[in-house]
Amino acid sequence: MSSVDLSVEIAGIKMQNPIMPASGCFGNAEEFAQLEGMNLKKLGTLVSKGTTLKPQEGSKQPRIWETPSGMINCIGLENPGVEVMISEKIPFMAQFGVPVIINVSGSKYSDYGEMAKRLDRVKGVSALEINISCPNIDGGRIPFGCDPKIAANVVSAVRGETNLPLIIKLTPNVTDIVSIAQAIEAVGANVISMINTLKGVFIYKGKIIQGGLSGPAIKPVALNLISQVAQAVKIPIIGMGGISMLQDIFDFFSVGASAVAIGTANFKDPLIMMKLINELESYCQTHQLGNLDALKQKIKLKGGR
Ligand SMILES: Cc1cc2nc3c(=O)[nH]c(=O)nc-3n(C[C@H](O)[C@H](O)[C@H](O)COP(=O)(O)O)c2cc1C
Repeated sequence: MSSVDLSVEIAGIKMQNPIMPASGCFGNAEEFAQLEGMNLKKLGTLVSKGTTLKPQEGSKQPRIWETPSGMINCIGLENPGVEVMISEKIPFMAQFGVPVIINVSGSKYSDYGEMAKRLDRVKGVSALEINISCPNIDGGRIPFGCDPKIAANVVSAVRGETNLPLIIKLTPNVTDIVSIAQAIEAVGANVISMINTLKGVFIYKGKIIQGGLSGPAIKPVALNLISQVAQAVKIPIIGMGGISMLQDIFDFFSVGASAVAIGTANFKDPLIMMKLINELESYCQTHQLGNLDALKQKIKLKGGR
C-alpha cells in the first residue's frame, strides 16, 4: 500500500490521482487498453475523443504533421457519433472503475444542448467536457470559444439539459482569455480545461493545411494563460499543453492547475501516463509528502517578474 494519497476531487469528480489523457490523444481507450504495461484502472480519469451528434469521417490525409517540439493535427473530429458512444464506447470505458469524461463538440448551440440531453444520466458518465474551439456554423464559422457571450451561450445551452459537472475546454486562440473564463464561470461552468491547440498551418504538396499545434512547443503558452485564468476565477482548472515529464506537471500545478491532462506525449510514448503516475508517487514518497496539497505547498511559486 502506498503511503502517498494522490487523490483529488474536482467539482465532485473523485480522482485517485491528478493525471488523465487529453481528449483526442487516447482514442476511446480501446487501443491503449491492449498495450502491455498499460493499466487503465490507474488513471485519474478517462477522457473520450471529441464526440459529435452525428458520426463524422474526419479530414483527408495528411492530418498529423510533426513540427519542432510538437505536432499539428487536423483530424476533423472523426468519431462514431453520440449514439454509438452511448451504446458501445461508454460501457467499454466505464468498466475500468475510474471516472469517465465525455468530450463534446458541436457546430451549433443546439448540437451541444442535444448531446448533453442524450448523455445526461447515461450510466458511467461522470462529467462532460465541452470543446468550444469548434467553428460556429451560425456565427460565420468563428469558434464558439472566441467570444465571451457566445461561449457563455454554449454553456447555458448545455447547463439547461444536464446536472453533470461541466468542464469547459478553452481555446488559446483569443485576445482576452480571462473575459471568456469569467463569462462561462458566471453561467454555471464547474471546471475549466485548458489549453486546446494553437492555430497553425503546414505546407503539403504546395497546399496550405490548417490545424492545431500541440506538444512541448506550446507549454509556455499554456502556463501563461493558466496563470492568468487561475487568478481570475474560482472554479478549478485542468491544465494541459505540452506535458511530457514530471517537472511539467509541477509547473502546471504551480500556476494554478488542480489536475493535468497528457495529450501529444502519448503519441511518442503510449505508456507515458503510467510512468508519470509512478514518478509522481515516488517523488512524494522520497520527499515525504503525504498528499497533493503538501506537494503543491513545496512547489509554490516565489513570485515573478
Ligand atoms: C491528435 C489530436 C486530437 C485532438 N482532439 C481533440 C478533441 O477531439 N477534443 C478536444 O477538446 N481536444 C482535442 N485535442 C486537443 C488536446 O486534447 C489538448 O488540449 C492539446 O493537444 C494540448 O495538449 P498536448 O500538448 O499535451 O497535446 C486534440 C489534440 C491532438 C494532438
